[in-house]
Amino acid sequence: MSVAKPLPHDAAKLHVTGAARYVDDVPVPANALSLAFGLSNVARGRITSMDLDAVRAAPGVVAVLTAADLEHDNDVSPSAHDEPLLAEDDVYYTGQPLFLVVATSHLAARKAARLGKVGIEELPAILSIDDAIAADSRFEEGPRVYAKGDAASAIETAPHTVEGSIEIGGQEHFYLEGQAALALPQEGGDMVVHSSSQHPTEIQHKVAEALGIPMHGVRVEVRRMGGGFGGKESQGNALAVACAVAAAKTGRPCKMRYDRDDDFVITGKRHDFRITYRAGYGDDGVLRGVEFVQYCRCGWAQDLSLPVADRAMLHSDNAYNLRDVRIESHRLKTNTQSATAFRGFGGPQGMVGIERVMDHVAHALGRDPLEVRRANYYAECEGGGDAGGASAPRSAPPSPPEDISGTKIEAGTHEDLSSRGAEGASVPQVGAVHGEPEGVQTTPYHMAVEDFILHGMTARLAETAEYERRRAAVAEWNASNEVLKKGLALTPVKFGISFTLTHLNQAGALVHVYQDGSIHMNHGGTEMGQGLFQKVAQVAADRFGVEVDRVKITATDTGKVPNTSATAASSGSDLNGMAVKAACDEIRDRIAQVVAPELQADPTEVVFAGGEVRANGAAMPFDEAVKRTYVARVSLSATGYYKTPKLEWDRIEGRGRPFFYFAHGAAVSEVVVDTLTGEYRILRTDILHDCGASLNPAIDIGQIEGGFVQGAGWLTTEELVWDDEGRLRTHAPSTYKIPACSDRPRTFNVALWDGRNREDTIYRSKAVGEPPFMLGISVLMALSDAVAACGPGYPALDAPATPERVLAAVRRVRAS
Ligand code: MTE
Ligand code: MOS
Repeated sequence: MSVAKPLPHDAAKLHVTGAARYVDDVPVPANALSLAFGLSNVARGRITSMDLDAVRAAPGVVAVLTAADLEHDNDVSPSAHDEPLLAEDDVYYTGQPLFLVVATSHLAARKAARLGKVGIEELPAILSIDDAIAADSRFEEGPRVYAKGDAASAIETAPHTVEGSIEIGGQEHFYLEGQAALALPQEGGDMVVHSSSQHPTEIQHKVAEALGIPMHGVRVEVRRMGGGFGGKESQGNALAVACAVAAAKTGRPCKMRYDRDDDFVITGKRHDFRITYRAGYGDDGVLRGVEFVQYCRCGWAQDLSLPVADRAMLHSDNAYNLRDVRIESHRLKTNTQSATAFRGFGGPQGMVGIERVMDHVAHALGRDPLEVRRANYYAECEGGGDAGGASAPRSAPPSPPEDISGTKIEAGTHEDLSSRGAEGASVPQVGAVHGEPEGVQTTPYHMAVEDFILHGMTARLAETAEYERRRAAVAEWNASNEVLKKGLALTPVKFGISFTLTHLNQAGALVHVYQDGSIHMNHGGTEMGQGLFQKVAQVAADRFGVEVDRVKITATDTGKVPNTSATAASSGSDLNGMAVKAACDEIRDRIAQVVAPELQADPTEVVFAGGEVRANGAAMPFDEAVKRTYVARVSLSATGYYKTPKLEWDRIEGRGRPFFYFAHGAAVSEVVVDTLTGEYRILRTDILHDCGASLNPAIDIGQIEGGFVQGAGWLTTEELVWDDEGRLRTHAPSTYKIPACSDRPRTFNVALWDGRNREDTIYRSKAVGEPPFMLGISVLMALSDAVAACGPGYPALDAPATPERVLAAVRRVRAS
């Protein structure tokens, strides 16, 4: 059995020896050209002149292109067709590509790009969240609102209230391999593109549009990325399209890679947010009502901002049963880089909002924040078992039933969720509160929560991490130390798995078995270091009952599996694992049909295991069975296809089931803060994470460790600073601080929760790519805890909690 084994990443040796091939390593013919963009140094303006004579005359320059030279579509947007490859009349941000230099070397192209003289008549720029609110500059008309019950009156009638606001900074992806593309012209105007992209089909689509040819004329190949983290869902389009256009014009291979500084300045980052909140709660710490207003800075083009902002709304409950809740979301348009996907896709920002509320309420009540969190959890549900099995809430937390919250019953005013009850969940459907079926706990977007397991996980983690003992030890330390203050926090994660754009939840695969019994595996997912290929290869090996080294992992290729979705939303192994399984099972059934008579068995009795095909006590080697299938003239090649069941979502109404299931996790972090400088260290982090029945525990633990560290970096040291003119001042590692090895927790314990997905996923595993990122929130909350030990005031720490911000918070708390 290959599945569930902690095997190393298939390319681990290649990675560490430097032999793994990335786009920039693909050998190119001697006549290949290199590209660079000339960039705007103005945030907002109108182009009045372009003098590119010096660029054209520079050494090595072969061609210089502007928007006027593009014969077909001048657009690299993944969504709204609002993102020209090269600026036309208007300039929308500092760093926007204005013209394209094609030269004989990378350096020649970059040097020449600096020589352009572009006249731009400057216009007032909208840079900050405040600017955008003042100018009412936004995508979509007015804010989007998701609501359940009547938050305003629930808050008014609650015994206590808190309100506040938190700034949440963005984040640079800092993939180790920068954006890169290579276009190789083919006969008859066709194009082959190698791209460092999470979304080869999108590259194919945009290149075809830019060349004015059908998608069948473009083939895109992605062997691997040196990290993507969401930053290569759409941000690779510009490079691939530029290369293809230049290759078509010159008839020569064209390659482009951004220098690190250019990568920072040109490409989109995580959306920064401001979240304001107002919450009503009781002496028990249980929220009676909560309102959030989320301001999301989207930058100049729409890109993926709408679904990102939606996902922030969809995670403003995190693990908590919010009965009366209203979430208002403003998608603000600014003259900055077009913010894009980044691990968690808005979910982390939404989650920070509610975790802040929990922290604030606990502080106001003088209670341990963990107690308040647990009191607000959704009720526990049975884990495991088949979909459709009972999932009645167990051990309900100490919280008021839905109907004492003082809200009007609005039964029948909305489409009843029972319309999808046929899919199997044994959800009681009698009567309704807030339009919800009675006895069913629902999210603010009216989805039944049927798989909540964080009570059990939290209890286990609190025990193994010795939360109580360390809480007392921290209090004791803080009582006797003036300068160094410690803080401790346990925070949960409940993250929804599926693309919220429902049709993206599909995948395809192509599997060949060769005459010698070796297996060629291909699917629509891309490899960015997350171990997707290894996990899916283990699935393929398991289906055929052979060792995983029989399975050849091959580059993602739009010519093999078409119409793929981006490898994103953590759903790579869920989707492609199932598609590969379907393809393998198809071939397996054909082999069984051929060999069953020889084994004197029925085809249904044939088993593939231990490198053999077995039935009725007889066996033959897998290779032999394959050979016989070939000789019998039966195909050993198959495609596989999968689509996620049960999804139904209305993003305008905020109603339905956007997610197939939830992945859970919890982390306890302990920090120490130097209150004289604001500097801090993470002393220890303990994590318990839910991967369902893990496909590969070693890879999953790697994802958890990496996700946590990246999440902690986002909330602590990674600070993006734009100046008053909209120039990004932090555009290199010298000014932008990602976590180094020395920043990881001094003690770091990661364990997997032993459970199976209640839903029928590939081997009952759960997606793991993004959820652990949000475990980093425990560090922000631990810092808040440490600062709170300095005085009576509430720290109200913004993120990233840089040493400067921590120091300011210490002063505030002491002064209050
Ligand atoms: N892990 C590594 N090493 N590199 C990456 O770029 N991207 C993350 C996550 N883990 C990433 C990673 C993001 S944003 C996503 S959506 C998932 O991996 C995508 O892969 P999966 O769906 O196969 O988990
Ligand atoms: Mo991940 S942000 O969904 O690429």
